[in-house]
Amino acid sequence: MHFLKSTVGRKLVMAVSGTVLLVFVVVHLLGNTTIYSGPDGINAYARALRSLGPLLWAFRLILVAMFILHVFYGIQLTLENRAAKPEAYAVRKHIESTFSSITMIWTGLLIGAFIVYHLLHFTFQVTNPGISASRHPDALGRPDVFTMVLLSFRKFFVSLIYVGALGALGLHLLHSIEGSFQTVGLNSDRTFPVIRKGGRLAALLIYFGYISIPIVILAGILG
Ligand code: HEM
Repeated sequence: MHFLKSTVGRKLVMAVSGTVLLVFVVVHLLGNTTIYSGPDGINAYARALRSLGPLLWAFRLILVAMFILHVFYGIQLTLENRAAKPEAYAVRKHIESTFSSITMIWTGLLIGAFIVYHLLHFTFQVTNPGISASRHPDALGRPDVFTMVLLSFRKFFVSLIYVGALGALGLHLLHSIEGSFQTVGLNSDRTFPVIRKGGRLAALLIYFGYISIPIVILAGILG
């Protein structure tokens, strides 16, 4: 397909798939904050999600497809970019480059590795069978996600992995939200500063929202 051979076409696929993944990240964060209402918050939320049945599987399939497209074209475009720019400069000049933009590929790969660990941890529950939510229901027969998350984050190294990986997610988003607006042409000289500030603020809110959970648990404030 000609569209997917052009850089612009593939960047558009990156922007659209990235936006769908970002929507998931925000919805997942909002869902996770139900942990602050105790077991009745997050366990009820986990049960409600499961009761979606085939709809949940449809969302999961869309998510996996978006993830594969995003990773595939992300790696491909980075490799092409690097091949087109051999180290010809004594000093690498990055016009409008920031730490987060240069490290996009690395933070992206770190997020990929984190998602594999995270799914094994909380979805398939194979890294912690002793506290698996599906095998240890709460008093109302719901998967006890509250206790599973609580006992997990009480372990310093587990919390450290999450806080580190979420740092990679924060850096990735710091650059990518404004970038996707640029790719789809939704920016002008007038709107760009607003988009940039809004994108960065959203990235920070997502970062602090997520890390608050392991930190609050590790500090003994929750549970
Ligand atoms: C403190 C941070 C996080 C916590 C406490 C958390 C918690 C959870 C829990 C409890 C589940 C299992 C839900 C269930 O099966 O009932 C889950 C699933 C999942 N999480 Fe997270 N999560 C966190 C961060 C993230 C991040 C940053 C991402 C993505 C970048 C992510 C992506 C996923 C995915 C893809 C699933 C599988 C969803 C499904 O089964 O359909 N999570 N998470």
